[in-house]
Amino acid sequence: MTLSSAPGKVYLLGEHAVVYGEPTVLCAIEQRARVGVQRRDDGKLRVNAEDLSLDGFTVEYDGTADEGPDIDVSESLLDAAMGYVDGAIEQVRDVTGNDEVGFDVTIESDIPLGAGLGSSAAVVVAAIDAATRELGVTLETDELAERAYRTEYQVQNGQASRADTFCSATGGAVRVEGDDCRSLAAPDLPIVIGFDGGAGDTGQLVAGVRSLRDEYEFAADTIAAIGDVVRNGEAALADGDLEELGRLMNFNHGLLSALGVSSRSLDTMVWAARDAGAYGAKLIGAGGGGCIAALDPTPETETALSFTPGCEDAFRAELADSGVKRLE
Ligand code: PMV
Repeated sequence: MTLSSAPGKVYLLGEHAVVYGEPTVLCAIEQRARVGVQRRDDGKLRVNAEDLSLDGFTVEYDGTADEGPDIDVSESLLDAAMGYVDGAIEQVRDVTGNDEVGFDVTIESDIPLGAGLGSSAAVVVAAIDAATRELGVTLETDELAERAYRTEYQVQNGQASRADTFCSATGGAVRVEGDDCRSLAAPDLPIVIGFDGGAGDTGQLVAGVRSLRDEYEFAADTIAAIGDVVRNGEAALADGDLEELGRLMNFNHGLLSALGVSSRSLDTMVWAARDAGAYGAKLIGAGGGGCIAALDPTPETETALSFTPGCEDAFRAELADSGVKRLE
């Protein structure tokens, strides 16, 4: 068996606007997906996924990819996860020129599905890396990020930026603007995550923002304003100015909320973090439900969130300096 892991990520600033060519800044976190892969000679894909949620339910998916998982919780999310694995394996077949190969794939993840922490990108990056290595091919990080991006692009029907997959493959802090992806120097950020136990549908949320942008010029201006917030955030990061970065995260949350992608529970957690003295807080990822991130070097925000109704889990996210890790 060949085993790789890849980290999840937090958008410090700029999600959604990145889809329209604005810059975004994000960083990898030590919540990881681990994917183990063993070659099969019958051409089948068999996937076993456990702990694909922070709330700890365990799912056994034991069938070929086209049968779909036989489960009764979060079926659509798991279907989506299986779609990503399928897409990743297609990239592996393409890049290795081995069209007929099959795999047993085992996924274990610390990252809740669809909650804005980059679970799909981490699974895709780790799966492509492990499966190519299982066939004797080790991809350079750039090629791995590119293949992972193509997987997300195809599974999400063309609605994907390069941000998640590049960040998960390379680790650390990164800046993405269109096709331009690069690593950034960043201070060690005191990030606290609040998770409402829910998830958002990235495709639907991206489509909602797109139709607002098509309908209203001020929605397009809101997206452009997020780009300005990110450019200011880059300067704050370079200066290590956490207070300013927090202020910009607050601003970014307000703009995302204006675009209709926040929710009552996300807003409640954001306000709980601010009231606890965080430098700033915002929803992260596509929104609709899932996670917020706050900046707070003290224990106050984590404690406040753990007592906030609607917050199911609060934890500190350690930054991941490495992206994909080759474990076996
Ligand atoms: O919630 P996530 O991790 O799927 O992030 C989505 C981020 C968007 O900017 C909304 C879409 C994208 O592909 O960049």
